[in-house]
Amino acid sequence: MLNSAQLDGIALVVGSGRGIGKEAAFSLAEAGAKAVVFADMNEEFAKASSEESKKYATNEGYQTSTFVMNVKDAKTVEDMVNYVVEKYGRLDYCVNAAGVDNGVHKPLADTDIEVFDHVMSVNARGNLLCVRAQTAAMRKQTPKTWTSRNGTRDIGRGVIINIASANSFAGLPGKGSYVISKHASMGITKMAGVDHASDGIRVNAVCPTWVRTPLLDEELASNPEVKGMISRVVPIERAAECEEVSDVVAFLCSPAASYISGASLLIDAGITTTLRLF
Ligand SMILES: NC(=O)c1ccc[n+]([C@@H]2O[C@H](COP(=O)([O-])OP(=O)(O)OC[C@H]3O[C@@H](n4cnc5c(N)ncnc54)[C@H](O)[C@@H]3O)[C@@H](O)[C@H]2O)c1
Repeated sequence: MLNSAQLDGIALVVGSGRGIGKEAAFSLAEAGAKAVVFADMNEEFAKASSEESKKYATNEGYQTSTFVMNVKDAKTVEDMVNYVVEKYGRLDYCVNAAGVDNGVHKPLADTDIEVFDHVMSVNARGNLLCVRAQTAAMRKQTPKTWTSRNGTRDIGRGVIINIASANSFAGLPGKGSYVISKHASMGITKMAGVDHASDGIRVNAVCPTWVRTPLLDEELASNPEVKGMISRVVPIERAAECEEVSDVVAFLCSPAASYISGASLLIDAGITTTLRLF
């Protein structure tokens, strides 16, 4: 492994009970994180994922624990961050993966405002609450340095990665609430990157299209048309494997990415750069 892609700090992954968040937590453990806290609204999922992470962790002193919270509730978000800092002494890497979809496709004129409020309160407001509490804790801690073949450089106080979406860049017919919430997540990423660069905090987003989570696998199994549609519109002609997102998250947390901040990185096999007409 690239030396500077290794990790050695304390990680908090929000929405790590299942899917991309769970895999991101595993990738951080595999890259050398000293501890990974699995935060989720689903205690059972969080406990199972935390336990499973021990199989992949490479740090000899690896520790893991869980925290039950809801990103819609500012108090549980703050309690979660305080828990990590009190238990492990600092907070080096945060991944914010908790998110919801807006369900059935509907044109914007037919937006159900209760659905819109729910999607925004998880994907946008919830993302902001997490980043707010995480940056507030990180800016109080001492910065770290990294020594490479060319000397020693400052790598800052902490790193935050938001799991946004290719729909942070592009619309998707009938998915207005989701698309709007993911544009907000990219805005939160840019603003936190701008406002906290001088505090030594890097904030980035990863922006995937279809990722092979258990949910997508269920959909593919029940509706073969979705598979056909993905291979028609995605230039690589398949959905991303979870690791193709989660390993990028670990890279962005690492010293190798110490000059990347405020960025929203598309992981979409080029789908948003092309019009695939045939
Ligand atoms: N799966 C994809 O194809 C895909 C593509 C692009 C972006 N994304 C984004 O990636 C993120 C993760 O998606 P996924 O497919 O892994 O989802 P998922 O539903 O499989 O997992 C989401 C996890 O977040 C938790 N969660 C949901 N709401 C929460 C809340 N209010 N508070 C705390 N925890 C909560 C769930 O319990 C679950 O463990 C989402 O933000 C999603 O929008 C997913």
